[in-house]
Amino acid sequence: MKGLTDNPSYIIELMEGGVTLEDVIDGHIYEQALAEKNAFVVADIGALMRQHVCWQSTVPYLQPYFPVKCNSNPLVIEVLASLGLGFVCANKGEVNLVLENGVPPENIILSGVCKQLAHIKHAAKNNVQLLVCENEAELAKISRLHPGAKLLVQLTTDAHAAETSMAFGSSLKSCRHLLEAAKELGVQVVGVTFHIPTSCQDAQEAYTHALSDARCVFDMGEELGFSMDILDIGGGFSGSEFQLKQVESTIRPLLDAYFPPLSGVQVLAEPGSFYVASALSLAVNVIGKKLATSPWDEFLYYMNEGVYGSFSPKLLGNTIAAPTVHKHSPCAEEAVYPSSLWGPSLDQLDQVVERCLLPELFVGDWLIFSNMGAFGLDDSTWLSSSSQLPVFYTVSISDWDDLQEAGVSLDNAKMFTMHQYSA
Ligand SMILES: Cc1ncc(COP(=O)(O)O)c(C=O)c1O
Repeated sequence: MKGLTDNPSYIIELMEGGVTLEDVIDGHIYEQALAEKNAFVVADIGALMRQHVCWQSTVPYLQPYFPVKCNSNPLVIEVLASLGLGFVCANKGEVNLVLENGVPPENIILSGVCKQLAHIKHAAKNNVQLLVCENEAELAKISRLHPGAKLLVQLTTDAHAAETSMAFGSSLKSCRHLLEAAKELGVQVVGVTFHIPTSCQDAQEAYTHALSDARCVFDMGEELGFSMDILDIGGGFSGSEFQLKQVESTIRPLLDAYFPPLSGVQVLAEPGSFYVASALSLAVNVIGKKLATSPWDEFLYYMNEGVYGSFSPKLLGNTIAAPTVHKHSPCAEEAVYPSSLWGPSLDQLDQVVERCLLPELFVGDWLIFSNMGAFGLDDSTWLSSSSQLPVFYTVSISDWDDLQEAGVSLDNAKMFTMHQYSA
């Protein structure tokens, strides 16, 4: 029965009676301040529900497949699985995680440009049939180890290549060879996948190009006798409702032209950040402070987490937005100073936020980084010698009601109100 398990895997704090996320973070900061002042994560499970409602009301015709690489926290996966999402997995471990959450194998895509042989065999053994394929070497591996696979041809887009500085996917020209080779090897091709990242400057141009190319690949596939019925338009959804609406107004007319509902093509998307970014906040402690005078005057603040821990995505070129200062309400006349935020390693690379304006901070102050859910915080300590950060789960009463109504039961969770928790 919900919330009454003897050995809960998760403890979830219920926000009721006007308690806010800020209050929950506050409570944990208070606890930490009495102990070691360790950094920690607060996960608002309700944010997953709110994003799901927004997705369904804005793009009901796009079936969401969540890329596990964006956030593999088991509770996040459990909630998304209960909400009925499909999943994009990059390896055997991710496939196991989603299968354990009761996701049917037909709702799983095994992605990856070059998959390890064991992972292809594991997909075959577990009846995961949808596999992404972009080249003939990969096709040969799949035909040998998973002859019953159904392939989604990964189509290249300039925007994806620009973001990764790598040619990702197959060009339109090489798609024909790939389809012909699949035909010869007797492997089924069922559709096309592509990805246009949020960093793309001209989404209109990128989607127009990608969807017309996808239409060409569908036509080539059908000519060769394949039954092409899945189009996967990838990720590229930042998390804001505004941006989702912008993407929707760009793609809807294109889908109507190239893949109208009557074509029977199932259209999928891979929203990662959209679902999880707003769910996780990271609280870190200021452990050092210096005033630098060269090349300009600025405060350097050192935090107890850096790029060799929770902020590792910074090393991959992601920008980390400036945090808010805990228990601080900015006012117009307040003095702010050029500041930069650093991790604890004293390494040149360990700069988390380059230049931002902050009020003067002091050692012991707490900083809150919000929108951290798509930053792999669940396993980001892979580079760090420190142990994994504690994650505190929370949900508001109204989100919890909505989650339960949507079929999310979280049988392995124990629910507490804030009052019970501190008692
Ligand atoms: C192939 C693919 N699909 C989906 C995603 C998720 O993208 P987003 O979080 O921007 O929606 C990514 C992100 O890198 C990706 O590379």
